[in-house]
Amino acid sequence: MKLLLTTSQGIEDLAKKEVGNLLKMADLKGKVEEKPLGVEGRIWAEIEESYYFDKKGKKREFEIASFLNENSRLLHRVILHICSTKISSLETGRALTEIYNFVFNSPIEEYAKVSESFAVRSFRKGEHEFTSIDIAKIVGSAIYDKLSKFGKPKVNLDHPSVIFRAELIDNVFFLGIDTTGDSSLHKRPWRVYDHPAHLKASIANAMIELAELDGGSVSDPMCGSGTILIELALRGYEGKIIGIEKYKKHLKGAKMNALAAGVLEKIDFIHGDATKLSQYFESVDFALSNLPYGLKIGKKRLIPDLYMAFFNELSKVLEKRGVFLTTEKRVIETAIEENGFKIKHHRLIGHGGLKVHAYVIS
Ligand SMILES: C[S@@+](CC[C@H](N)C(=O)[O-])C[C@H]1O[C@@H](n2cnc3c(N)ncnc32)[C@H](O)[C@@H]1O
Repeated sequence: MKLLLTTSQGIEDLAKKEVGNLLKMADLKGKVEEKPLGVEGRIWAEIEESYYFDKKGKKREFEIASFLNENSRLLHRVILHICSTKISSLETGRALTEIYNFVFNSPIEEYAKVSESFAVRSFRKGEHEFTSIDIAKIVGSAIYDKLSKFGKPKVNLDHPSVIFRAELIDNVFFLGIDTTGDSSLHKRPWRVYDHPAHLKASIANAMIELAELDGGSVSDPMCGSGTILIELALRGYEGKIIGIEKYKKHLKGAKMNALAAGVLEKIDFIHGDATKLSQYFESVDFALSNLPYGLKIGKKRLIPDLYMAFFNELSKVLEKRGVFLTTEKRVIETAIEENGFKIKHHRLIGHGGLKVHAYVIS
């Protein structure tokens, strides 16, 4: 079985590693490849089918897609791969005809029964003169026409039994069955408070991986709605976890989220200022934070002073490593270096249409 897995751009290697570990945990054999056909934010997993015997001694197939949906922290979607190709022309008429023919000639009937209602959800990225709705329509009609050979297909756009996912990323086309459903996995059910700049849970987990935590204390000194710390606590982290946030409204929201996640008692939330970090603790082993970027013009000019004061305080308390995200490359690099830290790792991560810089420092 082949799965197309989606995640954020720039963390494919970490997601690939996670999938490899999950396969090992479930005693499954498979091959995992990042960026299939050169597409960022995508992973292919080819997994050998595996069976087990239930309590009644009946042989059953292990549901690998459900297993990944339930256990992955870095993936966004788990899609049963049907087919993929490189579209030879991106001129609207020709591209849509090519997609129609390609879908019609693929083994749709092996993945969906004509008796099951279906819908097509689409995703498009790159330079095209047609929309994702055009793709959904053409793929939907190819599936309908193909299934018509077996009876009368049923389309249900609101509550389909089977969701086909069609993606066109530049000239690469993927078609599969979306086993995740309409809500991406990074939208965690515990998020009852919606911070205006909250981090995707998948990226929070990528930061946790990059930090290589060893059980020592962890703080997010500008924790917003608590995403990084809540995800850390949900992973069963045993060390001390401390969140600091300047604004009461967000701190209250972080507590509500932690309560919804069932980890409120595992996190110390402090109403405080990250530029006075040493007032709250003498030392901390790890600091992980998605820093304010100051996208609002009025606030942008405050960022250099904030970063400088924060990294200065951090230099008084940080024992091991820090992992930070920001769009402000020059400002953060100056603050890191002027306060005696070294950049150990840097990468770009796609987040909400932006490329953000991730740094590991010590
Ligand atoms: C980008 S947001 C963090 C979002 C968070 N990762 C989440 O997922 O909700 C940055 C946060 O830093 C907070 N902040 C700004 N200046 C601060 C300071 N001096 N001390 C503590 N928190 C601060 C902001 O109120 C905001 O909630």
